[in-house]
Amino acid sequence: MTEIYRIDENNIDDHLLLKAGRILWEGGTVIFPTETVYGLGANALDSAAVNKIFKAKGRPSDNPLIVHVSEYDGILPLVSEINEEAKTLIDKFMPGPITIVMKKSAAVPDEVTAGLDTVGIRMPSHRIASRLIKLAGVPVAAPSANISGKPSPTRPEHVIHDMDGKVDVIIADGICDVGVESTVVDVTGEVPMVLRPGGITLEELRSVLGHVEVDPAVLKEPSKNLVARAPGMKYTHYAPDAEVVIVSGPADMVAEKINRLSKEDIAMGRKVAVLASNETKGLYDIMVVPIGSKEDKLSISANLFAALRKLDDMDIDRAYAEAVDEEGLGLAIMNRLKKAAGYKIIRVSEK
Ligand code: TXA
Ligand code: MG
Repeated sequence: MTEIYRIDENNIDDHLLLKAGRILWEGGTVIFPTETVYGLGANALDSAAVNKIFKAKGRPSDNPLIVHVSEYDGILPLVSEINEEAKTLIDKFMPGPITIVMKKSAAVPDEVTAGLDTVGIRMPSHRIASRLIKLAGVPVAAPSANISGKPSPTRPEHVIHDMDGKVDVIIADGICDVGVESTVVDVTGEVPMVLRPGGITLEELRSVLGHVEVDPAVLKEPSKNLVARAPGMKYTHYAPDAEVVIVSGPADMVAEKINRLSKEDIAMGRKVAVLASNETKGLYDIMVVPIGSKEDKLSISANLFAALRKLDDMDIDRAYAEAVDEEGLGLAIMNRLKKAAGYKIIRVSEK
């Protein structure tokens, strides 16, 4: 049986959070909101508790979990060293939407790291997440709280849909502000490397670290020759049941292309929709799922996963999605969108 605790970030019920913290401490599972997406947490130092996460999600056991802490001192027992780059990132971006991959200590069980000698550490800024971890008194392993392969949950109804009956507690708050997961940065190599783009942008990382590389598998479709360094990046992900096709190019030409293709789809009996920005949604003849404003990428990242889930609620067979530019949060948005689309992209350009 799953208990649902409704807690308001702006008026936290400490009594309920203490109950949830105790369940974590005792080896149970608790879903909680963070500033990125909802997480499915368990005591990171308890292998049996951690195994419950893999089971609830249907997650492959070779995909490591990240460990959440509420304060700097919580990091020290989990890692064997905090190098200069890690210090800088902690100082500038924690708490916030970043996960730093560091050399792990012996305290972190192999179940958490899937046998790797590194561990991803994250310190969420969301008040409920932070307070819950503090009250639990243990580091909390937590992947996104979706069924493996589906878009990460950013609304309480998403976690209830995916996880009711599979965990001990769901803490239902509101909408996750950032809406895409944390940026995963590995600082154990020669040059810091982004393994997954996310809430902290590449530009922000470069502004404090100077040289930062991006795992080539983030930018291109992973293949036999291009294996993603974050194990989770190699799996099919963020995929709604609908087929997703990205169309990129000048806005009016994109709309023209999508309107034309969708006519053919409809003639073949397919139910179609388009994921479109506020600025361009008026250009379409078909059903529009709005994803936010091109002028404000945060409005798009915050809506993206909800929009992908909506396609399934509406029984859409094929959805077209407008591409966004890859600056700032656009890199993370396009990374998730490309995965949702299985890398199907149509490019239209001026003749
Ligand atoms: O925003 C987030 O990061 C959310 C919230 C709940 O904190 N969590 C999240 O966890 O997205 P998850 O497990 O869904 O994604 C973590 C990613 C996976 O791609 C995983 O393979 C990678 O981080 N990862 C974890 N530990 C790693 C390690 N030691 N080395 C390389 N990649 C790692
Ligand atoms: Mg995930």
